[in-house]
Amino acid sequence: MNQYLNYLGGEWKPARSGHWTENHNPARWDEVIGQFPKSGPEEVDEAVAAARMAFREWRLVPAPERGAIIKRAGDLMSERKEDLARDMTREMGKVLAETRGDVQEGIDTAYYAATEGRRLFGHTTPSELRNKMNLSFRMPIGVAGLITPWNFPMAIPCWKTLPALVCGNTVVLKPASDTPLTATHLVEILVEAGLPKGVINLVHGGGGAVGNRIVEHPDVALISFTGSSEIGKGINAKAGASLKRVSLELGGKNAMIVMYDADLDLALEGLLWGAFGTTGQRCTATSRCIVHADVYDRFTAMLVEATNALRVGDGLDPRTQVGPVVNRLQQETVESYVQIGKSEGATLLCGGYALKEGDHAAGWFYAPTVFGDVKPRMRIFQEEIFGPVLSVAKAKDFDEAVAMHNDCIYGLSSSIYTRDVNRAFQAVRDLEAGITYVNGATIGAECHMPFGGVKQTGNGHREGGWPVYEFFSELKTVYIDFSGRLQRAQIDNY
Ligand code: UN1
Repeated sequence: MNQYLNYLGGEWKPARSGHWTENHNPARWDEVIGQFPKSGPEEVDEAVAAARMAFREWRLVPAPERGAIIKRAGDLMSERKEDLARDMTREMGKVLAETRGDVQEGIDTAYYAATEGRRLFGHTTPSELRNKMNLSFRMPIGVAGLITPWNFPMAIPCWKTLPALVCGNTVVLKPASDTPLTATHLVEILVEAGLPKGVINLVHGGGGAVGNRIVEHPDVALISFTGSSEIGKGINAKAGASLKRVSLELGGKNAMIVMYDADLDLALEGLLWGAFGTTGQRCTATSRCIVHADVYDRFTAMLVEATNALRVGDGLDPRTQVGPVVNRLQQETVESYVQIGKSEGATLLCGGYALKEGDHAAGWFYAPTVFGDVKPRMRIFQEEIFGPVLSVAKAKDFDEAVAMHNDCIYGLSSSIYTRDVNRAFQAVRDLEAGITYVNGATIGAECHMPFGGVKQTGNGHREGGWPVYEFFSELKTVYIDFSGRLQRAQIDNY
């Protein structure tokens, strides 16, 4: 049995309690991938102390030099891409093409982060007084507590860790307990790339014992969390007590609008990819589709036929298109929403049952499911399910489609398929979401663009692109007076 360890202050260590948790393959649950330390607050305290100590020196390392280490980490990830992808499929189920994509998103993030070490721009402005200069710099903040989910086990830890490090912070990372292996690989890579002791720390364990301590620890300066809105609200409240800076990337109920003039084959391809890619377990998953009345019957018929043809199985099998859900609990959640959909009066068009026979018997599989005639106030149209369940609703025109889209507490990703350029731009303007795709699925964000949502999807911060470097650094404003005398701003110049 492989045993993996925490990484604290530059040393690989078990939990002091001596307790372990097993990591299982969701496609064949009796396959144990390894044992991981079941850590508690003590390990967090040790990690934070090490990170705090390491910060004193790491903050002084020139940002381009920090970037060079991240560049090497990107190179190592590229060399190991295939192995990383295979391990990821084994630990959380999604198909190999997607786990390769997940690792690639980590690599892309590393290369972007590496070059950001040569930017981290501040501003230089005129002063209102003579013989005086005004500048601003981006400064490191301190210890960053990063709490990451299981659906993007490499990409999301990279989204957070790499910008945090390039900005000169030190890190305590708590990965999801369903995907500790990929996070361990990431930390191994960062260590091999040359991060000094204590700059990156890894603590395996649950949200209660480990996550809470990170959020409440007085020496943790900032928190970045991706997960459910419910947990995110709790984190925000707790972290607010000590005025920590918090970035939250939370739930979604993303919708695709299909207009009467859409290329229906293209829309169908995008919809299948958006709804059933990653077995629907993305915060960007297309879980609602709003179809113009003129094409509703035709499009739903196409959709049902294509959904029934999807091959569900082990993500390591190259024929598989949809992998398992991550664990039993997730399968039960999906099942309960299917029952809710039926009892609310939506029409079950296909799927709607767990797959438990033959090759599916060993894992947590669920038939890709489509509900039709869904009404906007139904729970299956409002609540995040995080599984292979798509709700389809009919809209009489564009305005009704936009209103249905926006009648939702979340606002992460959105999409419209149309050939009418005016409609496309109206949608870009009016869809309440952090991301809008025109003639593309709701999934597929690129690492160099801002990623995040409006309303209860988050608290206004963005991951990806340039804004994340603003989150992970603090501004220092500097005034340099070379006049040789006291110059009083707002007074001597008026
Ligand atoms: C997530 O689901 O939490 O845009 C992230 C996408 C991916 C990232 C998803 N690049 O679907």
